[in-house]
Amino acid sequence: MNSALQLQRKFGINNSVSITQKSPGYPVIEVDNEHARASIALHGAHVMTFQPRGQAPVLWLSRDAVYCKGKAIRGGIPICWPWFGEHPDREKPAHGFVRNRFWQLESSEQLDNGCTRLILSIGDDEQSRSMWSYYFRLRLTVVVGNELTLALEMENLGSSPFTITGALHSYFSVADVSKVDVLGLEDVQYIDQLLGNKQFTQTGPIRFDGELDRVYYPALANEILRDYPLNRDILLKKTGSCSTVVWNPWLTKADSMDDFEQGGYRNMVCVETANTAGNVVRLAPGESHLLGLAISVEANRV
Ligand code: BG6
Repeated sequence: MNSALQLQRKFGINNSVSITQKSPGYPVIEVDNEHARASIALHGAHVMTFQPRGQAPVLWLSRDAVYCKGKAIRGGIPICWPWFGEHPDREKPAHGFVRNRFWQLESSEQLDNGCTRLILSIGDDEQSRSMWSYYFRLRLTVVVGNELTLALEMENLGSSPFTITGALHSYFSVADVSKVDVLGLEDVQYIDQLLGNKQFTQTGPIRFDGELDRVYYPALANEILRDYPLNRDILLKKTGSCSTVVWNPWLTKADSMDDFEQGGYRNMVCVETANTAGNVVRLAPGESHLLGLAISVEANRV
C-alpha cells in the first residue's frame, strides 16, 4: 500500500483533501470543504467523522478506538461485508473481513457544487479467498457535502453465484441516548437478538432505556434519528437495503469492549443500513448490487 505521503501527492487537493497518518502505516483522508468536514480511513474504507458546518459531529467515534491493521475502528461507519454479525465458523471475523483490511484510494475530486467525491475499492485476493472463496469487487463512493452519501457497489467477478449479507454500520452521535427517538420503523417486525431472535412488532418510535440489539425487516422506509436536547433530526435515506439494525450496548456490554470509551454508550446509537436476517443479496456471475445511504441534518420540527 502507498504511504500517506505518496497518497497526498497523488490525491491531495488544495484546500479540500489531505491525506495524513493516524498511526504508522495507517493513512486517513481528511476532507474540509465549504459544506463540511469528514475523515475516512483507508482501513475498511471507514468513514470516521462527518460534521456539516455549524453542526455538532454527526457520527460517534470512540476516543478509545484502535487504529491498527486487522482491527475494526469503533465508531463512524464500518462496512460489514460479505456477512453481517457472527459467522457460524467462529474462527472467521464477525461482520465480515472488509472492515479489517486496507482498501485502495482510486480517486479524489472536488465537484462544482463544492462537494468532495472519493472513490475507494477492494477486491478478492488469496487471503480473502481463504475465508470466502469468491471473486468480487467492492467500490465505495463517498460524497462529502452538506449531506454525506455512501454508495457501496458490490460485484460478482467470478463464475459461481454467491449470497451476501452486510451493512453500513453507522454509529450516530447523540446528546443523551435516553432522549432520542428512532422514527420510520413503526409497525415493522423485528427480531430481538437479545431474546433468542424472537419476533416482535415495533409500536411507536424506538426509545432506549437499556441494551437493545434488533434487526428490523422488512425495513424499506427512510429513518429519522430525533435528538431532543440537540434539537435536530438526523435523516437517513437508504437504497438497496431491506433491513435495519438498531443497537446500543448499554453499560455492561460497552464496558466489556476495550475500545469503547467509558460512558460512551450514552452518546451513541447505531442505526444500520443492512441486508441481513430475512434478506440476503444473491449475485449471479457478472451481477452487482448497490447499497446506499445519505445522511443529512435538519433542525427538528417539534
Ligand atoms: C451490531 C450487532 O450490528 O454490531 C451487535 O447487532 C454487535 O450484536 C455490534 O454487538 C458490534 O459488533 P462488533 O463486532 O463491531 O463489536
